[in-house]
Order: sequence, then structure tokens, then C-alpha cells
Amino acid sequence: MRETNVTSVYDLLGEDYFSKKHRSVEFNNDVQRFPIIYACIHQAKRLNRPLEELDVLNIGVGGGQQRSDLCICSLGLGCGRVSDHRLVDLDVSQTMLEVASELFPSKGFLEKLEKTKENVKQVKGDATDLTRYFNNDSFDIVVAALCDPIEPQEKMYHGALKVLKKDGIFITTYPHKDLATVIRRNIYHINLRYTRYKIDDKEYIARSYAPLPEDVSDLFMRTGFTDIQTRTLKADSIFYNEIDPKGMHKVDDNYWWYGEAGTCPGHRYVIPDTMMKAREKLGLPIGELPVLVFGEGRKPNND
Ligand SMILES: C[S@@+](CC[C@H](N)C(=O)[O-])C[C@H]1O[C@@H](n2cnc3c(N)ncnc32)[C@H](O)[C@@H]1O
Repeated sequence: MRETNVTSVYDLLGEDYFSKKHRSVEFNNDVQRFPIIYACIHQAKRLNRPLEELDVLNIGVGGGQQRSDLCICSLGLGCGRVSDHRLVDLDVSQTMLEVASELFPSKGFLEKLEKTKENVKQVKGDATDLTRYFNNDSFDIVVAALCDPIEPQEKMYHGALKVLKKDGIFITTYPHKDLATVIRRNIYHINLRYTRYKIDDKEYIARSYAPLPEDVSDLFMRTGFTDIQTRTLKADSIFYNEIDPKGMHKVDDNYWWYGEAGTCPGHRYVIPDTMMKAREKLGLPIGELPVLVFGEGRKPNND
């Protein structure tokens, strides 16, 4: 398998799995959804301002999950929502930006709320060069969920620190090293630093950072953040709530998997067997797989 440029992989993913032909599947990564929403709600409380008034940058939009999580789902928690006027998407892949815009009003939520999707500002750009697109002190929250393909990670952290306002928080998630090690090395036989993608029966590998919580703490510390919190998020799967039965595999009464190959649980296509095999290899009970690493750090307020 040849290493492929991350932008090309995501352009292909955007054209294939995130395209209309797979529209019946709603991708719900609940493992990271709630920690991210709660961190945002907590930030609003800490700043003593409504969530609606916070400026948020979403790096690596992918299928647009953080948009719907923050602008729609947080409503369900009765804690307000991030305003789509104050959310900015950044992605290196134009295709993924379009996909996020297309999928954002998933299940007609936005229509019900009489909101339109045009209000979310989108920037096509490289997350390792954030100050090229944004002024210093612009955001209260920067989210980089499953931005494991971005390299070097330090540059993204340095940039996030600059574009955050004082007391702003940076939220990150990654595939967890323990699980990624088993899946990549023992099941897919590839290097831990790569993830495998299967698109239209062709296989690609591209760089992917799979750390431990302490590695993420280190990144936050080295790049000048404070109030650092990192932790392992455990689960067995990433859930889907709208199912295309053709692509689904029932694993047990609680778990269904969609479709084909994937290497890390943040991806849409996870071989049903993969997680089972990983669980077996790690000798862990259901729900105990270390799936993701969650990280949060604050820009110091030196006044
Ligand atoms: C795994 S997806 C994450 C999607 C979403 N945030 C989530 O949590 O499901 C990674 C995203 O990062 C984008 N990406 C990769 N390298 C990037 C870079 N250097 N700058 C900005 N975005 C990048 C990809 O195009 C892709 O949309």
C-alpha cells in the first residue's frame, strides 16, 4: 500500500462515502460528541457568557459532525447552542468543506429551526498555518476533532494558541494509541503512524497520529497551554443512527457496524470484526476499548 497525500484521501472520501450515495447513513461519533459539547458548555460558564456569543473555530470539519453537535445537539441539553454566525469551518479539502455544508442540516433539524446553512463561514486552508487565515485573539474555542492526519501537530497547537483569545480553550481528539496499535500493527500490518483507508476497493495509507493521553498533555504543555486535561474515551464503536441496512453488520444486540474497512474508530467504515478482534487481543470486556484520546488546554490569561 502506498502512502497517499491526506488532501487527496479526503477529496476521495468526500466524493465517495460522504456523497449522496451514502446519504442514508448518519455518522454519529458519540464517543467524542458529548465530551466536546460539555467542554464548550463549561467554557461558556467559565467565561460567564452564553454559548451563542462564543466564537468557535472547527478545524478539520470532515462530515460536519461538530457543526451539528455544537449548533444543534447542544440545544437538547438545554444549554443553548453555538451560533452558526460565530462558527468557522477550516479544512484543507474543498470537497470535505462542501460535504460538511451539504450534510450539516442533517435530518431537517435546521429546517425545523428555520435556520440556514449559509451562515457558517468556511475557510479552505492548512491547520498548521492558522495565523495565515485568522487574526490573533479571534476565538473562544478551537476544536480539532480527529485531526490526527495533521502534521506537524505542534504547529497546529502553536497556531491555535495564537488565534485563541485569552482564556480560550483548544479541544482535541485522536485515535487512542493502544487501540490503534492493535488495529494497525496486528490486524492491518501497517506502521502505527499510518491509517488505512479503503475507497472503492482501493486501499490507501496516510499519516495519522495516535497518541496516549500523556502524549497529548505533553503537546499542550510544550506549546504553552494551561489547565490541561486529557483522558481516554472508552467504547466499542462509533454509533450510527440512520442505517442503510445493506451496509450494516450486527455485531451483537447493542452494536452495529457500517460497511467496509477502516483503521481507526473515527472513520466511517469499520470492519465489524476489527474492533472485536482488537477487543479480543487486548482481552477487554465490551465497552472497555480505549477508543479515543480527549484533550483540552487553555490559553493563559497573563493579566
Ligand atoms: C478524520 S477527519 C475529522 C472529521 C471531524 N472533525 C470528526 O471529528 O469526525 C479529518 C479532517 O481533517 C482534514 N485535514 C487533514 N489535514 C488537514 C490540514 N493540514 N489542515 C486542515 N484540515 C486538514 C481532512 O480533510 C478531514 O476533513
